[in-house]
Amino acid sequence: MAERRSKATRGTPNRTQSVSVSREGRTAELDGVRFQLGRADQTEREWIGQGEILRQLLACWLVVDAQDLPLVPRIRGVPGIGKTTLGMAAARRRQQELYIFQCTADTRPEDLIITPVLGDDGKIVYHASPLVTAMVRGGVCILDEGNRMNEKSWASLAPLFDQRRYVESIIAGIMIPSHADFRACVTMNEDESTFEIPDYILSRLQPTLEVQFPERDDEMAILEYHLPFAERDLLDLTVDFLQRAHGLGLDFSPRDGVHIVQYAVKRCAQERAHPLSKDEAWREAVLRVLGDEALELETLAERRRRAQGAQRSPLGLGDFFFDPDDPLHPDRPLEEDDEDD
Ligand SMILES: Nc1ncnc2c1ncn2[C@@H]1O[C@H](COP(=O)(O)OP(=O)(O)O)[C@@H](O)[C@H]1O
Ligand SMILES: [Mg+2]
Repeated sequence: MAERRSKATRGTPNRTQSVSVSREGRTAELDGVRFQLGRADQTEREWIGQGEILRQLLACWLVVDAQDLPLVPRIRGVPGIGKTTLGMAAARRRQQELYIFQCTADTRPEDLIITPVLGDDGKIVYHASPLVTAMVRGGVCILDEGNRMNEKSWASLAPLFDQRRYVESIIAGIMIPSHADFRACVTMNEDESTFEIPDYILSRLQPTLEVQFPERDDEMAILEYHLPFAERDLLDLTVDFLQRAHGLGLDFSPRDGVHIVQYAVKRCAQERAHPLSKDEAWREAVLRVLGDEALELETLAERRRRAQGAQRSPLGLGDFFFDPDDPLHPDRPLEEDDEDD
């Protein structure tokens, strides 16, 4: 279905006026407040293989009717699996400017919107974040590693990600509406070093797109694309290794693969007089990138499985007949018994 594109901004509060962007695109003005805009990311990124998830992301960003709004999906997956690349490639496919905001645990609400900076002449200059620059210029913003960000910062984005599509800058005293072409997505790592995002925010970040490990051919194509100068044996060793790791449920990623090959190539190039065998260089690279455990994938996978199993308490016979909280549960710890009743 063809997409409707327009310059008009919808879903914005009456209080806000339209934003005017300077001819060279470096500053914008709203309600008499002028602010500097950020620069678009120019990195060229192709998305290789896994065409379905790219189509899903592009579908989220389609607007099919005057009453319709784009979706803001969450892109989830283990570190290094290609989440940011996917967002970058989708922006490129739509031929829109790309802005990336790196979320961290100490991102403040104003970092996401507008920050005041002291100019050379001692006057305050307002700087728009990559997010606000994308909103104003009608670009794409990737909020990268969104689950590192705390609740207070997320709260400032609540109106942006529903039908209101605006943010408020307390510091500059303006409400900034988004351009109709503005699109966004949030990437989230599946690791533990993150905050819980509150439900009212999660409910705005829909749907969830899960990036999976690539199949063998795609994984080879990804490595070849990034390392066209690497010898075939090193690529083969690495793809075999990664595919075995994926099969065992270990979360070694294409990014790990890129680093392994890069380091092995450099080690081989360095030792021209006493050439390291490719095998040796590759084993060293795995060891240096992933640790010595990684050379024994099966043992590592078994150890991780056991560690995960130990976190879950084993099931007893009583678990089949009673809820865990049931006072009649035969394995219920004694100290939880309500003896006073
Ligand atoms: N499908 C893919 N196509 C192209 N490059 C990929 C793909 N998957 C992973 N990569 C490469 O792997 C590396 C890690 O990807 P990145 O998007 O940074 O991962 P994440 O954001 O999930 O941590 C990058 O060098 C990226 O280009
Ligand atoms: Mg990333």
